[in-house]
Amino acid sequence: MNTPKDLLVVGVGTMGRPYLDAAARLGLRVRAVESAAAWDSRPTDLAETFYRVDGHEEEAWAGAVAAAVAERVPDGVISFAEPQVMAGALVQERLGLPGPSLHAAVVSRNKALQRATFAAQGIAQPEHLLVSDLAEAREWMLERLPVVVKPLTLAGSEGVELVRTAAEADDIVARRSAEGKVLVEEAVEGPEYSWEALVRDGEVLFENVTAKETTLPPYFVELTHRPGHRFDDAELAQQVRKLTYGVLAAIGMRTGLVHLEFKVGRRGPALMEIAVRTPGDYLPDAISLSYGFDLYEAVVRLALGLPVDELVRTSPVSWSATHFPITDPGTIKSIEGVDDASAHPSVVRVRLRKRPGDLVRPLTSSSQRMGHVLVNAASPTEREDALKHVRETLRITVGNTSTEQNTAE
Ligand SMILES: Nc1ncnc2c1ncn2[C@@H]1O[C@H](COP(=O)(O)OP(=O)(O)O)[C@@H](O)[C@H]1O
Ligand SMILES: [Mg+2]
Repeated sequence: MNTPKDLLVVGVGTMGRPYLDAAARLGLRVRAVESAAAWDSRPTDLAETFYRVDGHEEEAWAGAVAAAVAERVPDGVISFAEPQVMAGALVQERLGLPGPSLHAAVVSRNKALQRATFAAQGIAQPEHLLVSDLAEAREWMLERLPVVVKPLTLAGSEGVELVRTAAEADDIVARRSAEGKVLVEEAVEGPEYSWEALVRDGEVLFENVTAKETTLPPYFVELTHRPGHRFDDAELAQQVRKLTYGVLAAIGMRTGLVHLEFKVGRRGPALMEIAVRTPGDYLPDAISLSYGFDLYEAVVRLALGLPVDELVRTSPVSWSATHFPITDPGTIKSIEGVDDASAHPSVVRVRLRKRPGDLVRPLTSSSQRMGHVLVNAASPTEREDALKHVRETLRITVGNTSTEQNTAE
């Protein structure tokens, strides 16, 4: 008799739940490590044991993972998001389990370490400077405006700011000089994309380009993602391939899901960052719809060394998108059109996190967005029709609107 494989999922929340669903379908034995914040809503029917993490730091996650492993050694580990990447990679390395590799995990967790590693490998990326105090970067910034200032280890555009003028440079130095180590980069101007890939022992089994729309500067919050993008320009497609495969080689990526972001500027594609974890923004849901296979199940299979070749499809069969409705800052007076937007045949779901009476802050990072819409259509044109329908029908009205405008409309 075959004993079921034993999977440890590190970080579940809402967005990681499809990993547990896939594991249940595969008949796996599942345990999960979960944050205190998500503890009360943990899906107790989908895992036999949950280990609670008290604290947000990656060391706290590593501690809980170590405790789970001490209790029983799993056959595979999946780390969900940035704070869980190191905890997973440490035990994968220690136990010889499939994973991105400790090198890939460490480099991916630090944007300055990424820049340093990739510079040595000739990977196209912005000119950059690492300083221990932003005041040290003042001259460098002034010579290169516009520039971007960013923290080394945060995510979701938190703390990422565009600096366009000398006055803005003085302002940001005054505001953020006490922050400590930061990265300053030449601002790449042009459209933004991400690249998602399934990798096994360094070999790319599946890859997808997602086109992005973000808010206007200075905060770049992501608003719409469209998977299944193709570059018609053969030279650009070749440069993108060189960049993406070059980054995988440079980090020594072994096995799992990667999410890489780049912008196409005047000098061609330039790397923003690489992550060796689940992409955010419900992108795996959109990618699964676009390609007609369950990306989560593929990740589960890779984590356990199970075959994936029968499952994975490499060409789009459908045209999906995730969209994040936004509104001006203020207190929400009314939300209208949810039913109307949901009724569109290409709208899969509309899930809003805010209600009338809730406060909407100026949009400076992904975490401040108010919910998402998932779309799936039979053609790129129908996808655009569905997105237009959502933008037109979903009306979120706020009172006491501030004068600050940061929408991309
Ligand atoms: N050097 C840059 N030039 C232009 N835009 C940038 C640059 N660095 C970051 N951005 C913008 O800010 C966003 C967030 O920065 P990123 O480095 O990806 O950090 P995060 O981990 O917060 O996602 C990017 O997706 C991009 O839109
Ligand atoms: Mg990013």
